[in-house]
Amino acid sequence: MSANHSQAYLVTPKPPIVRDELAHIGAGLRFAQSPTNFLAQMRQEYGDTFLVDVFGYKLFCVFSAAGLKSLYAAAEDAASFGMATFDMLGFKTPLEIFMDADIDLFYELLVPDKVAAYVTDFAEVVAQVIAEWGDAGELNVFDAIRTLEQRVGFKVWMGEEATRDGVWQQFKTHFDVLSQENAFVSPQLTLETLTSGKAREKHAVAGIMALVAGIVARRESENDWPEDNFTFLYHRFRSDDAQVTLRKLTHNIINANQGFLSNLYAALSWSLINLKQHPQAQQRLEAELADTRARYGEHFLTAQEALDSMRFCEQLLMESVRLAQRSITLRKVMKEIQFDCGDALYTIQPGVYITTMLSVINTQTPELARFDPDHYQGRRIHPDLIAQGKETISTFGHGAHACPAQKFSHNMCKVLLAQLLENFDFDALDVAALPSSSQMGGVARAATDVVLPYRRKSRA
Ligand code: HEM
Repeated sequence: MSANHSQAYLVTPKPPIVRDELAHIGAGLRFAQSPTNFLAQMRQEYGDTFLVDVFGYKLFCVFSAAGLKSLYAAAEDAASFGMATFDMLGFKTPLEIFMDADIDLFYELLVPDKVAAYVTDFAEVVAQVIAEWGDAGELNVFDAIRTLEQRVGFKVWMGEEATRDGVWQQFKTHFDVLSQENAFVSPQLTLETLTSGKAREKHAVAGIMALVAGIVARRESENDWPEDNFTFLYHRFRSDDAQVTLRKLTHNIINANQGFLSNLYAALSWSLINLKQHPQAQQRLEAELADTRARYGEHFLTAQEALDSMRFCEQLLMESVRLAQRSITLRKVMKEIQFDCGDALYTIQPGVYITTMLSVINTQTPELARFDPDHYQGRRIHPDLIAQGKETISTFGHGAHACPAQKFSHNMCKVLLAQLLENFDFDALDVAALPSSSQMGGVARAATDVVLPYRRKSRA
């Protein structure tokens, strides 16, 4: 029986099925080279709905407006975001982290009062990090913004101890080992992870746990529990067994830091790069910053109301995310479901992944392929661009699993860009920067390093 034939019963009526190239691998190699280009090409050949085998994973791909609507509306018990995420990240992340990590925690950590309070941490850490940059030099944008954001994260999700010199570097070393970013694009690293039984990753988790234990020990011995997320998480996971407390605290701190880093640093990097690629956008942002300062005073960066008034900065971030999104949206079918793709109602069996790729849909017309912050009004996309349905474009997702950190991310962007533009002049870019096509998952880095020469502005 051919592999194509054996797939047919998974989805009925039979959708177009992408011809397999190799047994067990399916179309995996072409997919791994460039998920975006591969799926865009398959869409041209097979239409808006098709089934493809990628390394044994059966992906039921949907790109029509009706299919996308059904994807985001699917109930968790029938088509699960949680199980799909587990399967996708479980290659690399030690399983004990998933066992302890609690998605509801993000919603507790992102309540409006906390989100408004984090901006003080953002402003402080950004100021500290950029004060360490030289007076002139070259910024390797994605690396520099990634490290900066990690340091903000150590303050926000842990506390002051984790930001101290000598300590943050240790946290960073361990977190870099756990980073999912290279897991899909580097077969070499993935192979090492698999053959070693995640040895480096487990060592990194142990390293983070030791650092967390040090902070707990200091706070306990000095009975010094500041009002921060480390204290909040410690009390949330406290149990009679100190080892269990430490384990749950550490695993949830890891999860919070990883979720925080996954899309945001690349989105911030693109927002900065797009200012340099589109000088008018920089002029508009500078005018907005001057107005906001004039209206709300010198400390506007730590006032939520002032940040909320910065609509152009929101447009810039939304447009930057839309164009650089490389997220694959996955739902694992857990029980037989009826799934409406507009042209047909499919019955899908458990084990199939319903999928779309945001990079394929987000830029699918000439107008959408163009950078223009006025495609958005604040965070709202212009209605003409989503005439077929709001799900045909996605930045922060739709439906029950839409990103709970949208406002938080906009705050971070506003605080960061305000401080960068206030303190530095950046040169224009020599060559256009484009999102990487080999990346899958999250907002992409650029295809090649983006290096921005900069000079610190002199103070009058
Ligand atoms: C520009 C930055 C960000 C972008 C573009 C982004 C994008 C997304 C998207 C598209 C989804 C939906 C995934 C799906 O439907 O399969 C999502 C979900 C999620 N994001 Fe974000 N995200 C960003 C920042 C963050 C940050 C900073 C955090 C944490 C502090 C975060 C935490 C989450 C969580 C926990 C979910 C899952 C929600 C649920 O299932 O209920 N995101 N994000």
